[in-house]
Amino acid sequence: MIQPSGNRKARVLVVDDDRFYLRLYADFLKGLDCEFLAVNNGLEALEKARDFKPDIAIIDVVMPGMNGFDVAGRLREDPLTAHLPFIMVTSLADSPSRVRGLEAGASEFLSKPFDEHEFTVRIKNLLKVKRYEDYLVEHGKLLEVEVNDKSEKLEDAFRKIRHGYIETVYRLTLAAEYRDRETGGHIKRISLDSQLLARRMGLGEAEAESIFFASTMHDIGKIGIPDSILLKKDRHTAGESAIMKRHTVIGADMLRDSDSDILAAGSEIALTHHENWDGSGYPRGLKGDEIPLSGQVVHIVDIYDAMRSRRPYKEPFDHETACRTIDNSAAWFSPGVLSAFRDCSGELKRLFDEHDGGASR
Ligand SMILES: [Fe+2]
Repeated sequence: MIQPSGNRKARVLVVDDDRFYLRLYADFLKGLDCEFLAVNNGLEALEKARDFKPDIAIIDVVMPGMNGFDVAGRLREDPLTAHLPFIMVTSLADSPSRVRGLEAGASEFLSKPFDEHEFTVRIKNLLKVKRYEDYLVEHGKLLEVEVNDKSEKLEDAFRKIRHGYIETVYRLTLAAEYRDRETGGHIKRISLDSQLLARRMGLGEAEAESIFFASTMHDIGKIGIPDSILLKKDRHTAGESAIMKRHTVIGADMLRDSDSDILAAGSEIALTHHENWDGSGYPRGLKGDEIPLSGQVVHIVDIYDAMRSRRPYKEPFDHETACRTIDNSAAWFSPGVLSAFRDCSGELKRLFDEHDGGASR
């Protein structure tokens, strides 16, 4: 039994206007245990090729109306039958007709008259090729499903690893902040505020996300500041203030030379989040565009958040007072950052209120 794929019998479509040959095909195909359908004109062949879904077709060349070449051409134009293998049957032994048949996509040729043995061999060969083609198509589909499944699992694993990595960074940052902050509210607000401002300034979603995660590490260098200075309730002396300022360099050093884009951005932010646009900031007194945008963004939201928060030495400012104070220090900020900050003012207030965590109490 010849089977193209699965368990069903092979299907053969035959088109020939000669009744004698139609009967001959029927007799020969019965011996091959095939399902077959015979039609006597090209138009019907095209119709049945769609409905009967044959594995192969046998097409006579010389027929009244639509000849075999035209039938083959029309089969190739239809996406449903474009890949149907077929044998061209011709009494035309001349070479040009064979070339034309090949151009029309014929896989095999039969020249009338032919005997049962030749017919059987050619049909078997073509069905074998068809069976392998079907196998390859099916195998390709299975592979595609398998690859898609693996890709999804890989993406899921990647998401979990990234999530775990970001959460680890966040928790380590919390540990660094734990000594001088009541809660993680400050870190969360800086993250959200920085992302908001980055988006408002027209940065792409990937950059905004990088700032969202990296900004959490802006003060991580405080881990290297002695408790006696970090936790001091009174204002710092000039010497203590100089040591406090070193948290920028310490943080940058802790995070530098990482292959991780987030840690690299964290290093940049740690180093530059106290630089002022007019060059009066620290640690390097950078000026204008020398300060990376990430540092500029975290700088302004960090100042806003510090003013809104209670400190041992000061009461929290309300939103309006904090905004007014920032306006009065406009020289510290780039015009673009300041403008975006003003545009986001309402949102920043809402984020502070939602993630206060006792900062202003
Ligand atoms: Fe800082």
